[in-house]
Amino acid sequence: MTSESPSLTGTDPTSGPPPGCPAHGLGPGGLHRLYGPDAEDLGSLYERLREQHGPVAPVLLPDDVPMWVVLGHAENLQLVRSPSQYTRDSRIWTPLLEGTVKPDHPLMPHIAWQPICSHAEGDEHQRLRAAVTAAMTTIDHRSVRRHIGRHTQALVNGFCERGRADLVSQFAEHLPMAVMCEVLGMPEEYDDRMVQAARDALKGTETAIQSHGYVMDALGRLTTRRRALPEDDFTSHLIAHPAGLTDEEVREHLRLVLFAAYEATANLLANALRMVLTEPGFRAQLNGGQMTVPEAIEQSLWDEPPFSTVFGYYAKQDTELGGRRIRKGDGLLFAPAPGNLDPRIRPDLSAGMQGNRSHLAFGGGPHECPGQDIGRAIADVGVDALLTRLSDIQLDCAEEELRWRSSIASRHLVALPVRFEPKPQQDVEMPPRPVALPPQRSARQVGTASSAPAPAAAPRPAPPRPPQAPAPLPTPAEPSRPRGAWRRLLAWWRGE
Ligand code: HEM
Repeated sequence: MTSESPSLTGTDPTSGPPPGCPAHGLGPGGLHRLYGPDAEDLGSLYERLREQHGPVAPVLLPDDVPMWVVLGHAENLQLVRSPSQYTRDSRIWTPLLEGTVKPDHPLMPHIAWQPICSHAEGDEHQRLRAAVTAAMTTIDHRSVRRHIGRHTQALVNGFCERGRADLVSQFAEHLPMAVMCEVLGMPEEYDDRMVQAARDALKGTETAIQSHGYVMDALGRLTTRRRALPEDDFTSHLIAHPAGLTDEEVREHLRLVLFAAYEATANLLANALRMVLTEPGFRAQLNGGQMTVPEAIEQSLWDEPPFSTVFGYYAKQDTELGGRRIRKGDGLLFAPAPGNLDPRIRPDLSAGMQGNRSHLAFGGGPHECPGQDIGRAIADVGVDALLTRLSDIQLDCAEEELRWRSSIASRHLVALPVRFEPKPQQDVEMPPRPVALPPQRSARQVGTASSAPAPAAAPRPAPPRPPQAPAPLPTPAEPSRPRGAWRRLLAWWRGE
């Protein structure tokens, strides 16, 4: 059964207020806009659309370009798992073919077709994706965890003595870039300038093109270096893959991996830390040992997926989705944010999703994120190590003062100010250790400035906890534990 109303490519002008009616804030055909004043709170708009239209709703992008947004969990999965019906190749999108979408359209960076695996399909997708996934399988996950640990320690050292920090600009936006520069094979390129350049390029400010150029120059230099002299890193394995990627293809895929990893993982870290600091139920479960950090990260992937939507999927033929008639050439937004909140799978949003990984945060089907293990590892190790070092961390503003920068594609926390008792620096090669606090403060006591003390921390099953050891560093203190256990713990931390 398909619903007759409305079609995207020929919106029915009688089905709502007249085109552009300011009284209703709606666009042509009475459709809701995913931009402008109507879209200040996209989360609520998606829920209104769900009530009004069901699991697949017609909406308008900037310049009132029509698009479907997929709100249902099952319908999102059907979209990404049906490559015979939908493609990620925007060159068949009707508004593009008809010239409604101009080359300077604000969403062009997301929409414009590029010769990379995320826009390719069929044999070409398999060729490019095989090279990316093969290079990913060569990544040694233990050494990645070691890099994550070292960089977390170094970042926390940068602010621990001050007793205050902004966990977005001083932590979440740095850690994924530091780790990805190691993984790709260019650790020397990681610095403040690289982080600022990536951030600026993604924000799309006036300097975005220049910043993008800065990142691309580094990736071009890396490609040339590794083509001449391969090493054991992601870039060298990408170049050596039998798919035979050209230098241009290598550079473009390094860009895809670096930006996808950087933006998504920075959002995930910020979202997860925000949840730990502001949601009492969350905090109590972590403190009480009913929830592990990896489970907390997974809950954040359900509630606030780092990419709210993914541009875009395009219908290869006339078809049907969620009761809607989809015409050949229609565009559809894959939408993890509303899809993960579908009341048909989550009737009670306050119920925890522990053990359930069937969220849409990493996509699905042939384009499913190949870097999800690395994204999860950065968040798990980073959050755990930070909370171990700064066990008394508290939000340093009222929760209502937190601000987000929202776009259709994602929602970034602007800043996450925190305060804690100043702590000494620690050796970056060592596991993080909690510093003894005054007796009234228990370990892993996190919360907002106004919250009541949380229950004392109970041992959590995973990941392995570093032993309680006295400060200060740098001399590694041998705790009163069996030597074997300490060794095993160090080996875990170092990824051995
Ligand atoms: C929390 C972190 C991450 C999230 C939430 C995430 C999410 C996603 C999503 C939603 C897609 C699009 C799926 C689709 O088109 O249907 C994607 C694609 C992709 N991601 Fe991730 N990602 C994350 C981390 C990473 C990391 C760390 C890497 C690399 C190391 C990576 C590499 C890629 C690549 C190469 C693609 C394109 C795959 C293709 O089109 O075949 N991602 N990711």
